[in-house]
Amino acid sequence: MERGLLISVDGVEGSGRTLHVEALKKWLEDMGYVVTTMGLQTSQLMSEPLSEVKRNIVFQRFTLFLAYATDLTDQAENVIRPSIKSGFIVIADGYANTLKAWALTRKLNHAWVDGVLSVLPKPDISISLISPPTVIVRRIIKKRGFLDPLTSAVDLCINEDLFHSFLRYVNKFQSNLTALTDGSGTVFRTNKTFDQTNKEIISYVEGFLKR
Ligand SMILES: Nc1ncnc2c1ncn2[C@@H]1O[C@H](COP(=O)(O)OP(=O)(O)OP(=O)(O)O)[C@@H](O)[C@H]1O
Ligand SMILES: [Mg+2]
Repeated sequence: MERGLLISVDGVEGSGRTLHVEALKKWLEDMGYVVTTMGLQTSQLMSEPLSEVKRNIVFQRFTLFLAYATDLTDQAENVIRPSIKSGFIVIADGYANTLKAWALTRKLNHAWVDGVLSVLPKPDISISLISPPTVIVRRIIKKRGFLDPLTSAVDLCINEDLFHSFLRYVNKFQSNLTALTDGSGTVFRTNKTFDQTNKEIISYVEGFLKR
């Protein structure tokens, strides 16, 4: 393989992104590919400022969107483009579609969001992970012990308790993500065992690599 690939894995928090990214990376490495990973809020430039922004300005969704977009753009220049040029496979643990679904769920203008993110390289393979909202909530509480006020969408002012507000938020986020993935990628449901989903993802990527 001369030119490398970009594989994006998108989904709401708790959808299983990191777990499936690590499993896919291991499988690709066992097949002899050189793999690197990046993702939302992992650039050297923006990772810490993003945490700061999230702590301080919960309601500034434009600012937060632009901070996330800068985070991905920085990684596009410093990780994705050089890695692909060197023949690596880059797997993104959260990429443009996660950020777009986040923004659309907060009613940011679709054309504007597309315009800002149009500087990012298009994924060769686009994977989206979804699960029923109740499964997602259970996973997050198991992993973290609580629902984070920002990701649980208090900024959307859904006038109910945190739990039901979050269920509605995940529902909306995932329907936006599914619509965004339609035609350019594949949606995998992760409410099965990890091994089942992992197998489905690997056979999809394997099919692409064999083309
Ligand atoms: N396919 C699956 N089947 C069953 N459980 C899963 C599956 N994928 C992930 N999980 C469980 O869901 C939880 C969250 O997974 P993971 O950390 O990969 O999510 P994430 O999408 O990266 O979330 P975050 O946004 O918090 O980084 C983990 O406890 C994991 O065991
Ligand atoms: Mg993760």
